[in-house]
Amino acid sequence: MLAHADARVRQRGMAGSGHDDARAPATLAAQALHGIDGQTGAIVPPLQPATTFARTPDYQLIGGGDYTRDLNPTYRAAEELLARLEGGAEAMLFSSGMAAATLVFRALLRRGDHVVAPIACYYGVRTWLRAFCADAGVQLDLVDAAAPAGAGAIARALRPGQTKLVWLESPANPTWDVTDIRAAAAAAHAAGAICAIDSTAATPVFTRPIEHGADLVMHSATKYLNGHSDVLAGALVTARADPAWAELRARRRAEGAVLGPFEAWLLLRGMRTLYARVERQAAAAAALAERLAARDDVRVLYPGLASHPGHEVARRQMRGGFGAMMSILCGDRARALRVCERVHVFLRATSLGGVESLIEHRHSVEPPDTPTPPDLLRLSIGLEDLDDLARDLEQALSSARVDL
Ligand SMILES: Cc1ncc(COP(=O)(O)O)c(C=O)c1O
Repeated sequence: MLAHADARVRQRGMAGSGHDDARAPATLAAQALHGIDGQTGAIVPPLQPATTFARTPDYQLIGGGDYTRDLNPTYRAAEELLARLEGGAEAMLFSSGMAAATLVFRALLRRGDHVVAPIACYYGVRTWLRAFCADAGVQLDLVDAAAPAGAGAIARALRPGQTKLVWLESPANPTWDVTDIRAAAAAAHAAGAICAIDSTAATPVFTRPIEHGADLVMHSATKYLNGHSDVLAGALVTARADPAWAELRARRRAEGAVLGPFEAWLLLRGMRTLYARVERQAAAAAALAERLAARDDVRVLYPGLASHPGHEVARRQMRGGFGAMMSILCGDRARALRVCERVHVFLRATSLGGVESLIEHRHSVEPPDTPTPPDLLRLSIGLEDLDDLARDLEQALSSARVDL
């Protein structure tokens, strides 16, 4: 038996004894659901790079899988952990967040169907979705899904029987609009649609969308789940192993956008510190947001601020923090670019969710028709000293100051 499979048997034994189910997600993550390897005593989950797995003389599989495009113990270990953290039935890993997101639309929508998605969402998804819907003959409504009025806008856009999917993102990149997941999912279900959500920025630490009624949760695992800016990965988690999930699983197997075992191993390693990382990052982000909000030369978009229009909904559906992403509106594009030029601690780079703080002028990297304001700077707060980060931004904002 494979070392990993052996450890899983031990783990199942612990679950059966009732201990495992009572453990908090942070405990499950820190130990990667692993405990101690039954064959070696190793406390670290093994990496299994094999692409193919042998059969017994009577042609039975030894470890349950025959080929890594279908099943590999290393990515299965990360999937099992993520499913537990999200409170879902099963999870699947993909070669990128986009591979995970686009599969949902491609697998669940047919010509003539209708899909509702937010205007404010990761531009890569929005841009791809527009092109996909035009090519595939799928009707698309992009709506303002931001709380407090957003769930009502979603409900009004629904076409019962024709709407097959409602896509959400909360908090939404890069304005950090919050969507009321419970209200949106209830409206989607009443119309006969599946509700899927990109929960990359919230992470399972702060929001478990399945508890609020979502059917599918998507992550760019490239971001907080891995947390170290060194793995490109995506994930889907399902509330239940239903026919839609079976279709998604069959397509991943057939199309092959799986995560390599080494990346899955790194991701699992990253997830072990997920709770410690993002709790500290979010606490720093909240403190920084308050500090910046006290200035009169910048507007701060952060769901943790009482002034944020989605704050009340965020307080209800985010537990223990509001995430570590925020944006600042600097007044005009030129000043935003000057702020970028003058920071020394923040790194000028795209992406988010890593241990290093990043600053990005989104308007420069998104397509020309983007709704992102030209004066917006996106900040991903990492694990550096809070005063270093605050002083860095404050000196950059002050020296780049113009009248608003
Ligand atoms: C919120 C969100 N969703 C999805 C994606 C796409 O993920 P990936 O880059 O892993 O394909 C990103 C990437 O920036 C993102 O920020």
